[in-house]
Amino acid sequence: MYKLGIIGYGGMATYHHNAIKQHFAGKLEVTAAFDIDPDRLALAKNAGLTVFENAEDFLNSKMFDIVLVATPNNFHPHYVISAIEHGYNAICEKPVAITVKEFDSMVNAAKKHGKLFSVHQNRRWDRDYRIVKEAIDQGLIGKPYAIESRVHGQNGVVHGWREFKVAGGGMLFDWGVHQIDQIIDMMGSEKVVSVYANMHSVRTPEVDDYYKLILRFESGMTAQIETSTYTLVQQPRWYAYGDGGSLVIEGWDCRGKIIRARDHVMNWEPVVVQTEAGPTRTMAPRPAETLEEIPLPSVDPHWTDYYTNIINVLDGKDELIVNEINVRRVLQIMEAAFESDRTRSGIACQI
Ligand SMILES: NC(=O)c1ccc[n+]([C@@H]2O[C@H](COP(=O)([O-])OP(=O)(O)OC[C@H]3O[C@@H](n4cnc5c(N)ncnc54)[C@H](O)[C@@H]3O)[C@@H](O)[C@H]2O)c1
Repeated sequence: MYKLGIIGYGGMATYHHNAIKQHFAGKLEVTAAFDIDPDRLALAKNAGLTVFENAEDFLNSKMFDIVLVATPNNFHPHYVISAIEHGYNAICEKPVAITVKEFDSMVNAAKKHGKLFSVHQNRRWDRDYRIVKEAIDQGLIGKPYAIESRVHGQNGVVHGWREFKVAGGGMLFDWGVHQIDQIIDMMGSEKVVSVYANMHSVRTPEVDDYYKLILRFESGMTAQIETSTYTLVQQPRWYAYGDGGSLVIEGWDCRGKIIRARDHVMNWEPVVVQTEAGPTRTMAPRPAETLEEIPLPSVDPHWTDYYTNIINVLDGKDELIVNEINVRRVLQIMEAAFESDRTRSGIACQI
């Protein structure tokens, strides 16, 4: 059985603790926690963990094989490298680091000490995302030429340390990681050849609380990625357009549909058609009988599949799913996005 110690016993750490308790009995157990906040340590103690008030005692305790770092973002590199240097495997919450350079130093430490190092990019196991990926993999919308991924909130509030730049705050570091990770996972090894980003601080002075990214892939496919914390009329979570159909997923409950054309050849009137949009043939509505609706594919992923993979890797039975290559690509794209927003121009790249 593997044992796990947690640095930063906050909101997300309690998710990890509960999920491990519920799903991995006999395989993985959380044994200890270190936090700078006595109230959080009291909670951890109540939940049955051995608690530590300083990092050194925690890291010297040898009460675990894996350290999970779930502090605010700016502390991730320091704690991950310390854990690895003390002989532990390391799992880090996302975003793993603020810069690619920091991430590379974490990877180097893991390689030097021969330790597993992974990042909890758990939304690769979101059901909405997996439906879109499955539909595209099965060719249900043909060859995709545009994908839109949106996360819309209404409250205009970025909470706690996420409000501050020094902590690695802002929505691109918070949600952007997941959205970019999903898109590059969906596109496999196809490279991103340009990144355009426009970011706003609508109600949060120091960091972005809105961003729109446009990633262009080698094939010309574009992914539009948007997160807003202040969108009072909200748009669907996903749109995907292919040369054989269109897909929509409305929200987290995964209601949605795929619409396909029954035939690709239609006989249009040779003259301009009067429509509600005015005289236009191109934008005239399609006759209903030329369309078909098919159900979204069914999938059943769980965030805990992340830990199943970690255990299998430690047992020597599997490859790491969230690995150095894809985590690094996400960070590179985020760096390009900040640069694009700063320079108000698209950034050509090969990521
Ligand atoms: N993967 C996901 O779905 C997901 C969801 C939420 C948060 N997160 C990530 O988890 C991490 C924590 O976020 P959260 O929402 O749990 O935040 P949080 O504020 O609830 O918890 C952070 C904890 O870290 C402790 N802490 C702060 N500075 C510390 C330090 N220097 N040393 C030790 N402990 C320290 C705080 O006291 C707090 O208990 C972030 O990196 C965040 O991006 C990931």
